[in-house]
Amino acid sequence: MRAFPTLGRQTAILGLGVHVPERVLGNAELERMVDTSDEWIVERTGIRERHVAEPGTASFELAVKAGREALDAAGVEPEAIDLVMVASSSPDAPFPAMACRVQECLGLVNAWAFDLLAACTGLLYELAIADAMIASGRARTALVIGAEVLSRILDWGDRSTCVLLGDAAGALVVGPARHGAGIRSWCLGADGRQWDLLVYGDHAHKGAYAVRDPDPHFKMNGRETYMFAVDNFARQALAVTEAAGLTVGDVDLFVPHQANRRIIESAARRAGIAMDRVVINIDRYGNTSTATIPLALRDAAAEGRLHPGDRILLASFGAGLTWAACLLDWE
Ligand code: ACO
Repeated sequence: MRAFPTLGRQTAILGLGVHVPERVLGNAELERMVDTSDEWIVERTGIRERHVAEPGTASFELAVKAGREALDAAGVEPEAIDLVMVASSSPDAPFPAMACRVQECLGLVNAWAFDLLAACTGLLYELAIADAMIASGRARTALVIGAEVLSRILDWGDRSTCVLLGDAAGALVVGPARHGAGIRSWCLGADGRQWDLLVYGDHAHKGAYAVRDPDPHFKMNGRETYMFAVDNFARQALAVTEAAGLTVGDVDLFVPHQANRRIIESAARRAGIAMDRVVINIDRYGNTSTATIPLALRDAAAEGRLHPGDRILLASFGAGLTWAACLLDWE
């Protein structure tokens, strides 16, 4: 596992926005849809409820709402954005990029725009690209978004997957650090040998589009993914803090991708991070893929758990398999 300290101009998160659809789908309602129980879901995953978008909602629509909130929070004008990216596990189409729809809706007239596909790791991959572009002077301010309408790619008759996911979007404005060190280090990776653990459709080896799968759905090997995730989170935490010249004991707050409460607890234990320094909000949203980290940051801020100068560890993993972690000083 490789990790690198950041070089060049330091960047930071300048603004944060989220959008969560209104409709709440609780475990009790799922009990009436599939053979499951609130007890099983809470015990195995930590999830109590998730939000789902109205049928026909596009992922880019959620992206626009989160993006607008992030711009307002950062106090940044739309014209100042040089680069906009949208990551998603439930993109609206192969093209045009959702980022181009967002660019139009938000008036980001000076931005170049593209989508990024790295499943749940997408938002941190975007943040890494924004960091590199800003550090090297190719952009000054970037908008990175994760947007999901996962409810439309679920098989609502498959209890092993439909209880896990939720819809939401999150956005970060990234720019030169105004105070402190900003982003200090990165750990980025992928293991394509395990591509078949999490797939979309029955024809994973060819792809749903190649075989014109009429009704593809999210499928996964939960047990294998679980074991990978615990080990991966713990190793990333060690690698990325070491790359910054620090230890996990220096981390004030661990903000992990929210896929399963037990994964987070086991990984934190293995890495030596006490649970009072870990953010968990999966109980209210389920796994919202690319949106989990902005959502968790928003909730941590609302609970008064984020202070200027705090050392924050962000970490994610997802289909591919892919992973990413970064260590940053909160602005
Ligand atoms: N309700 C009740 N029983 C269930 C349910 C359910 N919703 N789902 C599965 N079960 C049953 C299974 O059928 C199995 O029954 P059996 O023993 O009679 O065969 C039993 O529960 C145990 O199943 P396991 O899959 O072994 O359960 P496990 O403890 O591993 O939990 C889970 C399953 C929650 C999916 C876990 O493996 C997990 O969280 N894995 C990681 C998921 C993840 O991180 N995904 C991220 C990717 S999301 C993305 O990329 C968009």
